[in-house]
Amino acid sequence: MRIHDSEIAFGRASYWKEAELTYIVNESCIKCKYMDCVEVCPVDCFYEGENMLVIHPDECIDCGVCEPECPVDAIKPDTEPGFEKWLDINAKYSLVWPNITVKREPPPDAKEWEGKPDKVKLLSPNPGTGD
Ligand code: SF4
Ligand code: F3S
Repeated sequence: MRIHDSEIAFGRASYWKEAELTYIVNESCIKCKYMDCVEVCPVDCFYEGENMLVIHPDECIDCGVCEPECPVDAIKPDTEPGFEKWLDINAKYSLVWPNITVKREPPPDAKEWEGKPDKVKLLSPNPGTGD
């Protein structure tokens, strides 16, 4: 069967969109840092800061398995509104923070920070300890 040009064009557009997608960690993670996410990532693309984790956008294979693991809903696909700022933060810090693949104890006051607004101003640029 002959494939129409429009179908070929659509296929290319879809492929390109899939290739560009990534998941990101947003401000809900700050000072909660539960680390359930790192246990399920098949490509170990989480990186640890002092008070939050980020995903390396180029390493993430967009499998989505980490998204439901986060107790505070901090992991989202980059199709969510307002993702740009968090994509930049994930891209920037995943280059300088250490890799983390094993969950540790979350901060003792993690529960108190769940759902708090404007946590972005509390984001520490310092690295975590990593594995
Ligand atoms: Fe890892 Fe998949 Fe989550 Fe990307 S979407 S960070 S590959 S578990
Ligand atoms: Fe953060 Fe949620 Fe992972 S709080 S460390 S994104 S499980």
